[in-house]
Amino acid sequence: MTAHRILLGITGGIAAYKSAELVRLLKKSGREVRVVMTRGAEAFVAPLTFQALSGEPVRTSLLDPDAEAGMGHIELAKWADQIVVAPASADFLARLANGMADDLLTTLCCATEAPIALAPAMNQAMWSNQRTRRNIDLLANDPQVQLWGPDQGSQACGDVGPGRMLEPAALFELIAGANVGALSGKRVVITAGPTREPIDPVRYISNHSSGKMGYALAQAARNAGASVVLISGPVALDAPAGVDRRFVTTAEDMLKASGQAVDEGCDLFIATAAVADYRPDSIASDKIKKTNDAMNVAMVRNPDTLATIAARPDAPFTVGFAAETRDVERYALDKMSRKGLNMIVANDVSVQGLGFNSDRNAVTVFWEGGRETLGPDTKADIARLLITKIADQLTHKETS
Ligand SMILES: Cc1cc2nc3c(=O)[nH]c(=O)nc-3n(C[C@H](O)[C@H](O)[C@H](O)COP(=O)(O)O)c2cc1C
Repeated sequence: MTAHRILLGITGGIAAYKSAELVRLLKKSGREVRVVMTRGAEAFVAPLTFQALSGEPVRTSLLDPDAEAGMGHIELAKWADQIVVAPASADFLARLANGMADDLLTTLCCATEAPIALAPAMNQAMWSNQRTRRNIDLLANDPQVQLWGPDQGSQACGDVGPGRMLEPAALFELIAGANVGALSGKRVVITAGPTREPIDPVRYISNHSSGKMGYALAQAARNAGASVVLISGPVALDAPAGVDRRFVTTAEDMLKASGQAVDEGCDLFIATAAVADYRPDSIASDKIKKTNDAMNVAMVRNPDTLATIAARPDAPFTVGFAAETRDVERYALDKMSRKGLNMIVANDVSVQGLGFNSDRNAVTVFWEGGRETLGPDTKADIARLLITKIADQLTHKETS
């Protein structure tokens, strides 16, 4: 059942204006919406905007004798099927994480039994700040709370990075329950990023994978209710909230860490990592000197993590990724059947501005008897759509 009575909390961030569109979408879908604004939020958008769009008075104050004549805050806390705070400022997240009840919105969150979804929105440095990370970790481990986003990209202040609020349409879809709970109770293992294959103590062979797609999938799987282990090669990304990240370096480490995570219990294995196919046959113990005009490095085949997991007698549902520069569909389908996968997601990394190292992607996902093309869109949006598709196929397999 999707939520019908939505209590929308708005806090003091520049993205507050976008929430007007969210109220419009919710009302258009026939839902009841009541808006509560923090004092910070009122400095960005006037309550009258939300009153007009929701058709209900907007509450802004806890210590309001008129509204509280009948214990209004408790009535509101009981009324809501779902609380959504969008945008959720760093300040609000800090207060909520620490159980404070010093304004109407935090008090409602303390008093409600409804699920609380948070759509963080802030400057990338605020999002990466250690204290914000600590608050996010606390909230990610709170069973009443779900974190929706944030997305990566360009920000109002001119910075680029994580901290953008998910777009109103994406938030609406999440509220409408497109994939909330789709992986509830499932254990998911996801690999992401590149591997590094050492040549000597200071050099290695690697590739351009940024890890962004795998990280976005880990966040989307977590938001869909799964417990998620993320086996990550070396990347410069924050761990998605509520996800157990384990760093590895080489392809052999990736195989070992993946096998161990699957041993711990795994319903779904998604391999997005760009694992090096070959590694230097031997690693020089000292830095190789520049003495010759040419140099040959003998390479040997690396173990194939995805094929190894898919071939286990207790194999989980397996999803592979195929990054190709030509004949994308043919190579992807061949990889799916050769490795015995349940699904494969193909992307053409030759297209400028999509795939490797980009915040955007376009993919085609294949399964036995079906296919669907998703995007071009942000990796966060592609990840949400993919998780919905994967959850559908996983349920189909489990029930057939
Ligand atoms: C122009 C401007 C833009 C701001 N944008 C954000 C933002 O996007 N996210 C955020 O967390 N804080 C932002 N802040 C800081 C918050 O408004 C401030 O921390 C405030 O105390 C939040 O209060 P609240 O959480 O009670 O709404 C901004 C401040 C200003 C002056």
